[in-house]
Amino acid sequence: MNNDLINTIRSKVDIIDIIGDRIPLVSKGKNYFGICPFHEDSNPSLCVSRDKQIYTCFSCHATGNVYTFLMEYEHINFQEALVYLGELVGVDVSSFSVPKKNNKYSKFYEAYSFSVKYFQNNLSSSLGRKAREYLISRGIDESVIKEFEIGLSLDQKDDLTQLLLQKQFDIVNLNLIGLSFDDRDIYCNRVMFPLYDLTGKVVAFSGRIYENSDQSKYINTKETPLFKKGELLYHYHIAREECRSQNSVIVMEGFMDVIRASTIGVRNTVALMGTALTSEQISLIKRLSPHIIFCLDGDDAGVHATIRNGELFFQHGIEIKVIRLPKEDDPDTFIFQQGKDKFLSLIDSCIPFQEFKLNQLKEQVNFQDDVEKSEYIHTVLGEIVKLTDEIRIEILLKKLAKEFDIGYNTLEKRFQELKHERESEKLIPQQHVHLVQQKVVRKNKYEKAVEQIFYFMLCNDWVISQVEKEKLVFPNEKSRILCSEIIYYYQKFGNITVADFYTYVQDKEDILDLVNQVLAGNYRDVTTKEELFEYFHVIRDYGRCQEIKRLTNLMKKEIDPLEQAKISEKIRKLRIGE
Ligand code: CTP
Ligand code: MN
Repeated sequence: MNNDLINTIRSKVDIIDIIGDRIPLVSKGKNYFGICPFHEDSNPSLCVSRDKQIYTCFSCHATGNVYTFLMEYEHINFQEALVYLGELVGVDVSSFSVPKKNNKYSKFYEAYSFSVKYFQNNLSSSLGRKAREYLISRGIDESVIKEFEIGLSLDQKDDLTQLLLQKQFDIVNLNLIGLSFDDRDIYCNRVMFPLYDLTGKVVAFSGRIYENSDQSKYINTKETPLFKKGELLYHYHIAREECRSQNSVIVMEGFMDVIRASTIGVRNTVALMGTALTSEQISLIKRLSPHIIFCLDGDDAGVHATIRNGELFFQHGIEIKVIRLPKEDDPDTFIFQQGKDKFLSLIDSCIPFQEFKLNQLKEQVNFQDDVEKSEYIHTVLGEIVKLTDEIRIEILLKKLAKEFDIGYNTLEKRFQELKHERESEKLIPQQHVHLVQQKVVRKNKYEKAVEQIFYFMLCNDWVISQVEKEKLVFPNEKSRILCSEIIYYYQKFGNITVADFYTYVQDKEDILDLVNQVLAGNYRDVTTKEELFEYFHVIRDYGRCQEIKRLTNLMKKEIDPLEQAKISEKIRKLRIGE
């Protein structure tokens, strides 16, 4: 790795700008604070340091420098983060290639790209005539087929598996990643839609029947190391840019809906692909845009899913907007039949979730019945009380008063009562959450001393020299490796900063977690020689205790009295500190 270039680019950007562009940061003392995007939270636990050019989260302990932030936040790899920052500061990195990090999976990705090409060839060959006719009948033309890399699996049993085996792919792995099953093909005679991961690599397929058939409509790749349905959203890699320019994200049910929307130029879309929304997906969607619009199918199932998902987002502090389609439509059929303009005006007329929910409630009430009617009004109040915007609350209350001819004051009084009830209820669970978050692993004096010394080393060159000069030996393997890595780095590059060293250890799995602990531990960065030596003393003391323990155990097992005496003498010397 070309460390100079990586560090040069890093030193030209300010982590405060890069993170601050993505999440709001507030300055407090020397540091900046924001809501951590890497876990569910509403407190500002993410601390970003301008001095050190690193970030740490007090709650989930996410840690790193500007490169790791971009990689985690944007779901890109190191190379992509480097190119992005390089372009930002005007350093050309086009000729510069970092060795691939994800070697473990690169063979799997290769197998998938090969399969995509194979299926594409099938579709354009003479064997694909009927499938092409099917796609054309659905208005999917050549350019869409190309854009979404749609293909065709043949009516055979193991053609793809055999081809992949010829290409030296291993059958165990093909079974593992869901391209084969029992050493045979999984997909036969289906239109093949590649499914992408968050960075746009193909990691699975969904195969659709295209002739009359009693088989299930879609067959999807099983969960594999590459494909975890609950952690993905179809079209995320494209939506990422589009959502920024459109300032909203539209969530749909199926990938056909997304593909259709794309044909009319609406690309700020993702699809859930028939799963229940997971908390990972919620944070992915939140990351795409704060303005979230749900456009699920128009049928009852779609309405129920909208309400369920809307509630989930509400619990995460976000009120989604909703587009309601006619009962018989999904976005795909609506756009196909009604066209672009009608769909665009539907987007424009989307309504806030709470209103959508109230409309739904209303549909089930018999307003001739006074009991049902008053129950409905109470329910509506129970929904309005969840809102925070005072003006909106007043508008809704007035609307309700007018609609049912009830005195505004009566409604307002009941509303205030509900509000108090709600506030006193809220206090209890919040304290609970607080307790859970505070649960941290307690470190002993020795562990703290080790981490503090490392932090001093990373912030002060002279401490590195002292550690070397004093021949300080850390009593565990991981610390010893980290210590020698810091010394090595300093000797090689002539200086050290926390942020640059972080890039250096990023792929050193054996010590990365220790470095993360050191950075997240809120340690001091300046010290004096006297203080440093006190820390050394703690380490040496600990080392000695460990050695005494080891020898005592050894002595117990020893049967030869002469040997026993020798060990005992060693222990005595250690005790008096010789
Ligand atoms: N799905 C699935 N298996 C099924 C049905 C659906 O995996 N048997 C998933 C697919 O990912 C699909 C999504 O759920 O994209 C939505 O399902 P559905 O609305 O039935 O599919 P459509 O998008 O309407 O597909 P089509 O128009 O081709 O019928
Ligand atoms: Mn459909």
